[in-house]
Amino acid sequence: MSAPNKSYDPVEVEALKPENIERMRDEALAAFAAADSLEALQEAKTAHAGGASPLALANREIGALPPQAKAEAGKRVGQARGAVNKALAVRQAELEAERDARVLVEESVDVTLPYDRVPAGARHPLTTMMERVADVFVSMGYEIAEGPEVEAEWFNFDALNFGPDHPARQMQDTFFVEGPQGPGTTDGESGVVLRTHTSPVQARALLDREPPVYVVCPGRVYRTDELDATHTPVFHQIELLAVDEGLTMADLKGTLDHMVQALFGADMKTRLRPNFFPFTEPSAEMDMLCYVCKGESIGNPDRPCRTCSSEGWIELGGCGMVNPRVLTACGVDPEKYSGFAFGFGIERMLMFRHNVEDMRDMVEGDVRFTRPFGMEI
Ligand code: DAH
Repeated sequence: MSAPNKSYDPVEVEALKPENIERMRDEALAAFAAADSLEALQEAKTAHAGGASPLALANREIGALPPQAKAEAGKRVGQARGAVNKALAVRQAELEAERDARVLVEESVDVTLPYDRVPAGARHPLTTMMERVADVFVSMGYEIAEGPEVEAEWFNFDALNFGPDHPARQMQDTFFVEGPQGPGTTDGESGVVLRTHTSPVQARALLDREPPVYVVCPGRVYRTDELDATHTPVFHQIELLAVDEGLTMADLKGTLDHMVQALFGADMKTRLRPNFFPFTEPSAEMDMLCYVCKGESIGNPDRPCRTCSSEGWIELGGCGMVNPRVLTACGVDPEKYSGFAFGFGIERMLMFRHNVEDMRDMVEGDVRFTRPFGMEI
């Protein structure tokens, strides 16, 4: 067994010589300073501050030194490693700050650039208006009923008590659909029209169901009008039909009042004026209170109203008690059941509700008209 190496001189251990420790430290500092990216710094860290770096290896040599030499060597290596770790942390922070600044510039989004996405579409205000009205009735338990736009004359006229020579047939300017021409045909007569109103859906609904019947029928209708500021050959109506035991004109009036209150506000009401429609008896024209002036413009020059032309009332559409002849034509016993109906134009409602002055705007499909109504679903 050899004697303890009391005479061992630490300067004799190559790696622990002060100049070597200094060199290792300086090489580490130089490598960190030279690292120009976080990746390069990571490599320099492994090489100069990692477990296999010269300083770490030198540190291991300390254990083999005699006790009196350990303190001095330990201090020297410790100071060098401390300086190296500090320099590493400083450089790391510098490079991270550089990276963050660069990312902010490189990955920034210019929110003012024009976008190239396909713009979101919007539903046409006529559609949303029609649904809004229909919803008032759906929430009362009415069902939506629909019928064809190319309609049998029988539904459009006959079932609704317009006789073949009934003058009321001429009240409506009908598009007749041409039938087959030539030998063996009846002069191109098809018995088919583009429906002139949504009222034929009343007859279809009654034939489809057993009373009680409560339906609301929104849809597109056609008349031979020229397109101008106040007319369009294609427009929309919404129709209501209720057939049940014991329905009276009071039910009709209450329903109309509820509708205008739901659409225009709790203080709204309607009024009825006598009129004629073949399919209702009695028939009435229905007006709603002007929702802007609430009637205050009547005879009041100090408070003129553009919406109702200071009439106080806005004409909405037609209504009445279902003519017993219609019930009979549709197989409903008029002794047992009675009903009420009404119908009105959606374009007109959109015009006065949103101050649309030219009906052509509603049909031309320009999104600049549609967009301000917003995206409703
Ligand atoms: N169909 C009628 C028209 O287009 C409007 C109408 C009047 C509908 C009276 C009805 C009604 O349901 O009862 O002019």
